Amino acid sequence: MRTMKRLIGGLLFLLVLSVALSVLLALTSLSSNCLETSIYKREKEPTSWGPHRLAVIVPFRDRFEELLQFVPHIHHFLNKQKVKHTIYIINQVDKLRFNRASLINVGHLLSQKDCDYLAMHDVDLLPLNPKLNYSYPENGPFHIASPEYHPKYHYSTFVGGILLLTKEQFELVNGLSNRYWGWGLEDDEFFARMKEAKLNISRPQNVNSGVHNTFKHLHDRSVRRRDTARLFNQKEETRKRDRLTGLADVKYELVSTQYITIDQAPAVLHNIKLICNYTLTPWCEHKSGNTKKML
Ligand SMILES: *[C@@H]1O[C@H](CO)[C@@H](O)[C@H](O)[C@H]1NC(C)=O
Ligand SMILES: *[C@@H]1O[C@H](CO)[C@@H](O)[C@H](O)[C@H]1NC(C)=O
Ligand SMILES: *[C@@H]1O[C@H](CO)[C@@H](O)[C@H](O)[C@H]1NC(C)=O
Repeated sequence: MRTMKRLIGGLLFLLVLSVALSVLLALTSLSSNCLETSIYKREKEPTSWGPHRLAVIVPFRDRFEELLQFVPHIHHFLNKQKVKHTIYIINQVDKLRFNRASLINVGHLLSQKDCDYLAMHDVDLLPLNPKLNYSYPENGPFHIASPEYHPKYHYSTFVGGILLLTKEQFELVNGLSNRYWGWGLEDDEFFARMKEAKLNISRPQNVNSGVHNTFKHLHDRSVRRRDTARLFNQKEETRKRDRLTGLADVKYELVSTQYITIDQAPAVLHNIKLICNYTLTPWCEHKSGNTKKML
């Protein structure tokens, strides 16, 4: 009887021990997985990838569905090209009208310690052709989303979509004008800045693809109207070259920063409140106050 009890006791002890051991093992493997995918750890980038680092600056509001595709796509695209990069999502969280240009100015300021060149990048335009070259544009601004290959815009002075500049080139022209609240025209004014500064804008040549297969243009499933309203004297003012505003005077508040990963592709999300100069640009707020629906 006694030996029986001892035997059962021993067996129970072994059982408890093995359960404890397997729990311990599971825990340790879990924690090493966590380290593996840690968003705070920068992926290993070989030094052979060169001295430069690109800030992919994405002016942003609301388009989370597009972001889910954009971040992993551009991350893998740039890794294949051996381009060191950090993706910055500059998310406008105030109640003002969307201001793509000011968000890019803010993106430059928040990335300049980390990166020595930048891409102003639309969230809905994915590069498909691996020949689209995102390397350091030492000869002057490099307009990746060339009108020759862009799915939608084909006028010769178009510089929107995706544009690469060194930080020095961007600073030379005082960044972008802060006057453009609402949709459009800020890139045309930026073209004038680059032209005046005699920067040498170039574009991809002979990439052997066309307007349908060089880029993928994402279309958000929810229908969004573009905010094309022109309020006060906005129409006249935004057709002029702006020699006053830009990188040097952009006003904003950094509300918070989040480090996100989408399919293991890391990105930095800065939540930004832009601050409007109402004397200079009374059209920064929508009359109805219904800014969200007007995007
Ligand atoms: C991009 O251009 C650089 C400099 O000319 C070159 O070294 C690199 O191989 C090019 N990358 C691609 C993907 O064509
Ligand atoms: C302008 O850019 C082209 C293409 O990158 C380059 O071949 C040329 O040397 C550049 N010119 C100047 C003046 O930098
Ligand atoms: C707004 O812009 C005007 C005109 O440039 C300038 O005189 C004024 O100082 C600005 N106000 C603020 C608060 O920055």
